[in-house]
Amino acid sequence: MPTAAPTYPGLGGFLGSRGSLMLDVVFLAMFIVVPVLAVSIYLVKTSHRYDLHKKLQLVMATVLLVAVVLFELDMRFNGWEHRATASPYFDAAHKWSCPAGISLIIHLSFAVPTLLLWIVVVTRALRNFPRPPQPGLHSRWHTRYGWAAAIGMLFTGITGWLFYYLAFVAS
Ligand code: HEM
Repeated sequence: MPTAAPTYPGLGGFLGSRGSLMLDVVFLAMFIVVPVLAVSIYLVKTSHRYDLHKKLQLVMATVLLVAVVLFELDMRFNGWEHRATASPYFDAAHKWSCPAGISLIIHLSFAVPTLLLWIVVVTRALRNFPRPPQPGLHSRWHTRYGWAAAIGMLFTGITGWLFYYLAFVAS
């Protein structure tokens, strides 16, 4: 007799893995954010499209902020561990020393500083660049920390995808 598919608390995802709805949304969102970020930086660097760069960055920051809040609520209320129990890389008794747990620690050590850095970079850019945005006294600081924020986001994405695979795809 076929065994029933396991049920987990919270809304199920749509990617066919064990991920919840918000895990799937954030997993997919990073595949959009990372290329859009690359285009936004390319536009400002090569074509000096400062206004478009600003719009793209603000849209991305808003989308990410909403996603992070919904995602946090999902994790606080429903957790992720039960969805990972079928993975050979997860061990509930050694949550933080199994491969899935270690990959989550690595992911969070990029995600948390990157989130804080994004808030600072966006707030400082809005305060210090003229409207419409043009290079100026704030350019040096913004270029340095803008690159750090962008690279942080790339690693947040890569490590997040790895955690997602180890916890919710592998079986
Ligand atoms: C977290 C969000 C943001 C990131 C990651 C980011 C990233 C970057 C990067 C990496 C550059 C330098 C490109 C190069 O190497 O030449 C840059 C330039 C620039 N950004 Fe942003 N940016 C963000 C938000 C914003 C916002 C909100 C504004 C406007 C209010 C803005 C305005 C500019 C301007 C005017 C430049 C040109 C600076 C210059 O070359 O003198 N950025 N940004």
